[in-house]
Amino acid sequence: MKIIKCKTPDEIALLCANKILNLLKNKNDAILGLATGSTPVKTYRKLIELSKQDNVSFKNVKTFNLDEYINYKNEIDSYKYFMYDNLFKHIDIDLNNTHFPNEMLLDKYDDQIEKAGGVDLQILGIGANGHIAFNEPNTPFDSKTHVVGLSQKTIEDNARFFNSIDEVPTSAITMGLATIMKSKEIILIATGKNKADAINKLINEKPSLLCPASILQNHPNVTIYVDDDSASLL
Ligand code: PGA
Repeated sequence: MKIIKCKTPDEIALLCANKILNLLKNKNDAILGLATGSTPVKTYRKLIELSKQDNVSFKNVKTFNLDEYINYKNEIDSYKYFMYDNLFKHIDIDLNNTHFPNEMLLDKYDDQIEKAGGVDLQILGIGANGHIAFNEPNTPFDSKTHVVGLSQKTIEDNARFFNSIDEVPTSAITMGLATIMKSKEIILIATGKNKADAINKLINEKPSLLCPASILQNHPNVTIYVDDDSASLL
């Protein structure tokens, strides 16, 4: 596991956007695994800006998102909309090439990813409780795409995206830990003091179901990007 310490979230965004761009310059039909949440937004913004500057096209790129809510009230609460708003509408990607797990596809999402050639680069955030995607503590390491009930902590953390906490869906579909581990390369971004404990466990403790992200220690090509705050316990 490689650890890259940056001073600020902006510095991380620049490095990660460039990493994605370099991949696309070498492989214009790359498969990207994408994450939602506030952490990757800066990277997406930088990616939009630099791809325009360097004339990099997403026309042949395929994307697979990590997760999606079940029974969201409004379309704009979905992760599909989040990705459209924060990335897809700003680039020349074919929306037919963008994928999200859903209840009908449940068993087939892993196969779909594999048939497409597998994820070349997976972007991850991390939850304050060490979750990756919606794989909460005690998710089996061999899990594939599955339905999850969200923990109270995750519901509280995500309430900031909704009008009220009552609107936060209580379940979601997520790539499993085994699904994520099949990615050829993984970058995990963590910013802010509230991620410091999870980052410390991910980096300094033995892999354990209590910190789902710690499974990444067993992956051959992972880079963790931390800022001063998230690295404060290292
Ligand atoms: P955040 O979420 O980027 O909004 O902090 C990360 C996550 O829960 O994976």
